[in-house]
Amino acid sequence: MSNAAASQTDTVIEMAGVSTSFGDHVVHRDISLGVRRAEIFALIGGSGSGKSTLLREMILLQQPNAGTVSVCGVALQGISDADALALRLRCGVMFQHGGLFGSLTVLENIGLPLREHTELDDGLIKELAAWKLQLAGLKPEVGAQYPTELSGGMLKRASLARALALDPELLFLDEPTAGLDPVSAAGVDELVLKLRELFGLTIVMITHDLDLLWQVADRVAVLADGSVAGIGSMKELAAMQLPAVRQFFDGPRGRQAQQQAKQQEKQQAKRQTKQPTQEQQAGSTPSKPK
Ligand SMILES: Nc1ncnc2c1ncn2[C@@H]1O[C@H](COP(=O)(O)OP(=O)(O)OP(=O)(O)O)[C@@H](O)[C@H]1O
Ligand SMILES: [Mg+2]
Repeated sequence: MSNAAASQTDTVIEMAGVSTSFGDHVVHRDISLGVRRAEIFALIGGSGSGKSTLLREMILLQQPNAGTVSVCGVALQGISDADALALRLRCGVMFQHGGLFGSLTVLENIGLPLREHTELDDGLIKELAAWKLQLAGLKPEVGAQYPTELSGGMLKRASLARALALDPELLFLDEPTAGLDPVSAAGVDELVLKLRELFGLTIVMITHDLDLLWQVADRVAVLADGSVAGIGSMKELAAMQLPAVRQFFDGPRGRQAQQQAKQQEKQQAKRQTKQPTQEQQAGSTPSKPK
């Protein structure tokens, strides 16, 4: 395999035989999965199926009871404090409930990781925070506002901007579109794709949002009864007959999202056949002057 091909199939997060319990309550039983470099990987499953817990185990906030987790080739079991910090700095996290500090402005919140983990001066921190604010699709004046003054969609974008503060390689998003109106949610779809395209980020997201799954996710793992009931692209999952997987595709919302994805695929294919391909453009010779 060439180096380029090898790096494309590189596994960045590897979980093997992961089991997690809280007291008698078993949340994960022997879960194994891998997340590849620069892919958008989604975790879905019913409420309480253990999605956030699995994500917390990937970012060193929770220890499984059994099994192994490795991130960027580093085994998390028995990791030293220094290695754990180094790894955390490579991961940006947008938590399910925002997690911004109410006493700080949006810009101060975004700049906080830079203040804590770099020696940069205040002026540069402000500039970098302002750039991340813009990257997340917020207007500059939002930087001076406090989290309580923002709408739900703006809060999600602000916490995404903070997750991007340290230029992470891995981005974790817990319910990035929950509670948003359809227009704001569609903006998040585009933003996630843009981030992967611009920075080659590996993105792990938890979502119930079928549009986001169809439009953005490369692969999806379905958690049910403590295990991974199915894993694959949305198309592959849609063809599976397992009841735990079917419940995401059947019903009016599931069918509508699938239909919409098919239509968009058709439109895209039409557009592509109209445009000359790069090979055609490169191969075309200028017409002779008459
Ligand atoms: N620190 C904890 N102590 C005790 N129980 C916990 C803890 N964290 C999670 N749980 C339990 O583990 C189960 C899985 O929780 P988790 O937050 O991972 O679910 P989820 O799939 O993210 O759900 P949701 O879609 O509602 O966010 C739940 O039953 C929850 O109550
Ligand atoms: Mg959760």
